[in-house]
Amino acid sequence: MKKILHISASARGEESVSYGLSLKAIAQLREQHPDARVVLRDLCAEPLPHVDSLYSNTLARYQGGAAHAVGRSSLAWSDLLIEELKAADALVIATPMHNFTVPSSLKAWLDHVVRIGVTFNSTSEGKIGTLPDRPVYIAISRGGPRDRQPDFLEPYLRAILPTIGLKDLRFVD
Ligand SMILES: Cc1cc2nc3c(=O)[nH]c(=O)nc-3n(C[C@H](O)[C@H](O)[C@H](O)COP(=O)(O)O)c2cc1C
Repeated sequence: MKKILHISASARGEESVSYGLSLKAIAQLREQHPDARVVLRDLCAEPLPHVDSLYSNTLARYQGGAAHAVGRSSLAWSDLLIEELKAADALVIATPMHNFTVPSSLKAWLDHVVRIGVTFNSTSEGKIGTLPDRPVYIAISRGGPRDRQPDFLEPYLRAILPTIGLKDLRFVD
């Protein structure tokens, strides 16, 4: 394992519970792979734009390369984030629950990396992911008890990540 992509979706920086949990997962990974490099993508320190009109145009989303011509389009972000994802041998995602689901920062990241014709194809069998599988550690924190509120966070991640080929999900709660 050479590269670990560490994605943090908490706005609470180093105070974050999910970030702290994710650091433990990274420490364990680095015990087994001392040379692994960690690349941090902090979704709150550097917020991503929402998808824009170019990204929402299906043809442009398939082609992608046009993004560089328009510089600041969210397609350019999408290209960059997908390359970052492809380069990682493992992912560690730190996320709090916000209003029963993922925070908007993580949803924005997902909207950029779950991309038709690039990370998944739409077929008669449904959506088929194109990314090679690799372990994804997901550190979740919640303010309230799990059994007294709806949970659209874990089931959502269990549905969306396999859509792009990431099926080896390991939840750290
Ligand atoms: C906008 C917002 C919405 C939240 N919604 C929920 C929720 O639906 N359920 C819950 O248990 N906690 C909720 N919380 C509390 C956080 O999940 C909780 O404080 C968590 O530990 C924060 O994780 P962090 O320290 O990694 O940011 C919410 C917090 C915020 C700021």
